[in-house]
Amino acid sequence: MNVLKKLIAFHVAFFLVFVSGDIAGAQNEIKLPNPKITGKVSLETAMLRKKSVRGFSSSALTMEEVSQLLWAANGNLPMDAVSGATSKVIPSAGGLYALEIFAVTGAETVSGLPAAVYRYKPESNSLITVNPGDNRSLLARAALNQMWMASAPVVIVIGADFNRMTVKYGNRGLQYVFIESGASTQNIYLQSEALGLKVGSVGAFQDSYVTGALKLPTDISPLMLIPVGK
Ligand SMILES: Cc1cc2nc3c(=O)[nH]c(=O)nc-3n(C[C@H](O)[C@H](O)[C@H](O)COP(=O)(O)O)c2cc1C
Repeated sequence: MNVLKKLIAFHVAFFLVFVSGDIAGAQNEIKLPNPKITGKVSLETAMLRKKSVRGFSSSALTMEEVSQLLWAANGNLPMDAVSGATSKVIPSAGGLYALEIFAVTGAETVSGLPAAVYRYKPESNSLITVNPGDNRSLLARAALNQMWMASAPVVIVIGADFNRMTVKYGNRGLQYVFIESGASTQNIYLQSEALGLKVGSVGAFQDSYVTGALKLPTDISPLMLIPVGK
């Protein structure tokens, strides 16, 4: 009888710790449409059109557009069938991939997506809610009051976990993270042009204010804010 009780207790504990955790995780996860790997604008034309703007219309973005932008920022490529290795749309020293991408949205600024700060989950091309509500004005204030960026339907935040790189490369890893962030920034610019969207860059901000405003995880340093709109 004791053995039976222990067995039931184990199964209940297993359910509470793992299965219910998964259910909660799944509920919190918003699957994005699959990214497209073909487009109507050539790479050369996108480079030619590349331009930073500082104002946006009030038109909302679609989930397809947001998915495409986030995939361009740090998306996963299909796993290598032979080695099982994963890689991304951006290069990374030692394949360590230090970047974490966040999307900051307002109410209905992305059709069908509640206002929140989201973390992009590349392995499932999905979003996890980090902090509900519209935090774009707080973010703009943290960026030396560059209030124009609060009109962007989405602000993409490129953040990094420096430790992932420095644990292998020491201080040299710091510049590797900045280089990775630059590759991600340019990908977002080119993807925006290819989708006919407008894009800007904001590097002038106080790190701790951005982290506080968005409630970013403490191991993530914000590196670049990229407002995108129409
Ligand atoms: C690292 C970096 C930080 C930047 N920070 C800001 C910023 O805080 N505010 C802003 O309005 N533009 C910012 N920019 C945009 C530049 O001003 C812009 O890229 C430059 O004027 C060239 O214009 P273009 O991108 O249209 O060619 C930044 C660009 C980079 C690469």
